Order: sequence, then structure tokens, then C-alpha cells
Amino acid sequence: MAERPVTIDGERIQATLDELHAIGRGARSGSEGTFRGLYTPAWGEAQARIRRWMDDAGLEVRVDAVGNVWGHLPGREPGAPIVAGSHFDTVPDGGKYDGQLGHVGAVVAVEALRRQLGQPRRSLAVLATCEEEGSRFNCNFWAARSLTGEIAADEPGRLRDFEGALLADEMRARGFDPARVTEAATDQIGAFLELHIEQGPVLGRLAEQAAASAPRPVGAVTAITGIGRLLVTMKGQPDHTGTTPMLGRRDALLGAAEVALALREMALGVGHPAVMTVARLEVTPNIPNVVAGEVRFTVDARHPDRGVQRQLMESARARAQECGRARGLEVAVDEIWDQPPVEMAADLVATVRRSIEARGYRPVDIVAGAGHDSQVLGRKFPAAMIFVVTGNGGRSHCPDEYAAPEDCRAGVEVLAEALRQLAY
Ligand code: GLV
Ligand code: MN
Ligand code: MN
Repeated sequence: MAERPVTIDGERIQATLDELHAIGRGARSGSEGTFRGLYTPAWGEAQARIRRWMDDAGLEVRVDAVGNVWGHLPGREPGAPIVAGSHFDTVPDGGKYDGQLGHVGAVVAVEALRRQLGQPRRSLAVLATCEEEGSRFNCNFWAARSLTGEIAADEPGRLRDFEGALLADEMRARGFDPARVTEAATDQIGAFLELHIEQGPVLGRLAEQAAASAPRPVGAVTAITGIGRLLVTMKGQPDHTGTTPMLGRRDALLGAAEVALALREMALGVGHPAVMTVARLEVTPNIPNVVAGEVRFTVDARHPDRGVQRQLMESARARAQECGRARGLEVAVDEIWDQPPVEMAADLVATVRRSIEARGYRPVDIVAGAGHDSQVLGRKFPAAMIFVVTGNGGRSHCPDEYAAPEDCRAGVEVLAEALRQLAY
């Protein structure tokens, strides 16, 4: 193994993140956030830009059947590459770093390795995955499932976005053939390393408590939480708000509100790290002088213990039915998403810890509470994640998302070191 640590250009990381953030920015008027939903025009523009960056970095670029972008650096020995990356889609009104640091950082790291250490022994690859957030279609880790071969051939003809657009049509609009989605499946991932912002306050608090001269904390992720999602529809009776007495109304919004409050109590009762969230309400007809006749909403329930996670989902389903019944509503509950928790590969986590120390940072074991590509890829391939301090108290999935340039650089240095240990 070569011994010399590689030098990482921190300014280049920032300039690239800024450039990417501008694509899809201001999609909601007056907002500083970005939206690059799967197969939107902004998504297509970002994908073209990423292909160019990989090409400029001297990688062999390939786009697969669903739009994941691969950049290969062939090694001297045969075998599946060590892959580093993350997703390039965003939530609506999203920040600059979630997902983006992982693939931008991987391009910077692999190019630095190529220029400073030459051809690797084992092949390396950068992977910019096309979708992780589930924020346009309820597609449950579209990119990672495509790679593990878990996408069913009929999904593009079934899944619709929240405005009703069919996934198959949206694929065609970006030049993909929906009949070929299963062709993205691969066994060519020797190991997967994902650099990501923590999206929480843990590492930042440790940094604050330590002396200013102490090494910055960097996270070695040991496991990723389990995530379940329900889509609940409550049907009541639309009525005149002025003439219908309060008693006897069948107000679907009150049913949804009751579920939201009940699930908060339920999660608090189970205790940390259980989290349950009601969100994405669609209220019909959604006008001030009509009692809500129908409400659709999502329930997101998470826990790192599979048994507890399943229990939360079943309890949420039962509570939605109870709350609806008590108000005379019809209730339908669909489970639209179920991702079990996953342990990261122990030997890769050890490599990450070693790499954090080798670059002069402080390794901190941490469990991820957000969903990640590594969650799905980690079921089929050895996977591990590197977390960096997230500023603004760990805020994420909002325009205030922030990671300091020195923490971004630290993460890319650790990633490059781990790739060096594994591939040189
Ligand atoms: C994805 O980022 C999620 O945690 O929902
Ligand atoms: Mn992410
Ligand atoms: Mn996210």
C-alpha cells in the first residue's frame, strides 16, 4: 500500500457544491432551496454536469438504464471496483450538501488519488445515484433498488408523482426507456463508501464541547435506522363551514390532526430514537369555507431495531383506523415504503475509523437516523458511511443546511484515505 496521504483541494469541493446547488434553485418562488426531483429538467441538467465533472477527472463515464452516473478508474487487477458516492436528487426546497457532498467528494477524492498516486491496484468508481429522497414519486430508493435488482419491471407503469405524472412518461422525457429499468442491476460493487453530512446535532455538539485545538470529530456510521411509510386516506363529508353545526361534522382534517398528535405521543412513549411524523397533507377541497371532505397524508416511522420499527408501523396503522372511526371517517391505509435497518460492514467501518485517525481527526461511532443509499446497497454489498459535522445545529432537508468548508474537506480526506487503503 502506498503510504503518502493525498492532498485534497477544499476550494474545489465548495465551488462544485455551489455550482450544483444553483441547478434547480428557487424552484419554489422566494426560496433559497433547490429541487431536483427524479427526471425533472433540473435533475437532467445536474446529471449532464456530473457526467462532465467525472469526464474532466479522467474517469470512464457511463449512465445506466435508470440514470445513475458511473465514473470508473480501472485498476491493475481484475475485480469489482471499490465504489464511492451518494445521490444527486434533492428534497423540494433542499439544501446544498445532502447527497451532493458524497458524489462531489468522491470525484475530488478519486481524481486526487489518480493524479497523486497513479493507477490503483483495485478498480475505483464514483457513483452519483439518481434518486434517494422519495420526494417526487413514492419510489422507495429507486436508484439503490435498481442497482440491487429490486425494481419490478412494472413499476414505471404504476408509480405516479404527487401531480399524477407517470414515472414511465417522465423517464421517456429524459431519454430513458422504461422497459429497460431492470438492466441497471449490477454485481460490480466490491464495496460501497458513502460520505454524507450527519444531518443531526451529535458531531457538532462534540465539536463544541471539545477544546478549539482538539481534532474535529468525523463519524464512522455503524448502522442505519429502519424506515417505514404509510399513505393514509381519510374520507369524511365536505360541508358548509357556516351552516353546519360543530357537532355531527365528519371533518377529515380533524382525523388527520388527531393522528399527528397521537403518533407524537406514541414515539415519545417508545423513547429515543423512535421518531414518527405525519406530513404531506393533501386536503380536499382545501378552501376556507368548506369542511375538509378528504385528507391524504403520509406517516414516516423510524427505529434502528427492526422489531420496534415494525411495531411502530402496525400501531400507526391501528391508531389511524381508531381516530377515523371515532369521527365517522372512512380510512384506508397503504404501506408504501419499508426499509429495514442495516448494519454497516464491520471491516469497512474499521477502515473508516482508521482513516479518520490517519487524517488527524477524531473517530466517533454513530447510527444514522436518515435514509441513505447505503441502506439498500448494504444489504447486498459491503457498505459503510462517513459523516461530517453539520452546522446550524444539524439542520437538513431545508435551505439552512450547512457544513463548514473544513468539515467538507475533512470528510473528503477521510474518504480518499479509506479508498487509498482499500485500492492501493
Ligand atoms: C432521506 O433522506 C430520508 O431520510 O428520508
Ligand atoms: Mn442523503
Ligand atoms: Mn435526504
